[in-house]
Amino acid sequence: MANTDSRVTIHMAASLDGFIARKDGRVDWLETADHFADGATLEPGFVDAFLATIDCYVMGSRTYETALRFEGQGLGWSYGDKPTFVLTTRDLPRTRDTVEFYSGDLARLVNGRLRPTFRSIWFVGGGAVSGECLRLGLADEVYYSILPILIGEGIAFFEKLDRDVALHLAGVKAYQNGVVELRYEVRQPLAKGS
Ligand SMILES: NC(=O)c1ccc[n+]([C@@H]2O[C@H](COP(=O)([O-])OP(=O)(O)OC[C@H]3O[C@@H](n4cnc5c(N)ncnc54)[C@H](OP(=O)(O)O)[C@@H]3O)[C@@H](O)[C@H]2O)c1
Repeated sequence: MANTDSRVTIHMAASLDGFIARKDGRVDWLETADHFADGATLEPGFVDAFLATIDCYVMGSRTYETALRFEGQGLGWSYGDKPTFVLTTRDLPRTRDTVEFYSGDLARLVNGRLRPTFRSIWFVGGGAVSGECLRLGLADEVYYSILPILIGEGIAFFEKLDRDVALHLAGVKAYQNGVVELRYEVRQPLAKGS
């Protein structure tokens, strides 16, 4: 039985033209030097308190490989000690006990395994997995952080969406570093004939 209190959130940062990484996977453009005087600042402790509300993470293998690369460069592991489910059909290195690999039906993982156990389930990319999550109707909300930059081409936020997904704008916040965070709730599709 699905935990009706559970919430599946997709969160990523993208360029204004809708890319989450360059074609070769680089995310060097995530660091920007903008300043928006009227923007909000992140109070110390806010980010940690917010991250504490997340119960588990889900990501695709290519996002995992980026996370491992960052860790190898001394930039740390962004997902703390939270259970992290990595989707892959490959045999990838596992550097910590909190990482679990999964291959197969994503709806089965989310509805059969994650929703009964976790309240706040965060999909953190990449584009392929976010697209799959929306296509299967598994997401409740989307957090979209738009960075003040255009990169021309790259990996799209949602790969291979084959239908419209109606959203409800539930929140907007602009920050001093020029990032605009949009929060959308996913509207359930209307029943046929209604
Ligand atoms: N800007 C941001 O906020 C942000 C966030 C996240 C990622 N990124 C960037 O986005 C890029 C990665 O995105 P991406 O769209 O290329 O890839 P991705 O979504 O991270 O990973 C896709 C891969 O996951 C595996 N997979 C997906 N669904 C599966 C399933 N149901 N069962 C088994 N395996 C499954 C497959 O890999 P296998 O071949 O292993 O089976 C698939 O090729 C990276 O460059 C990353 O740095 C940016």
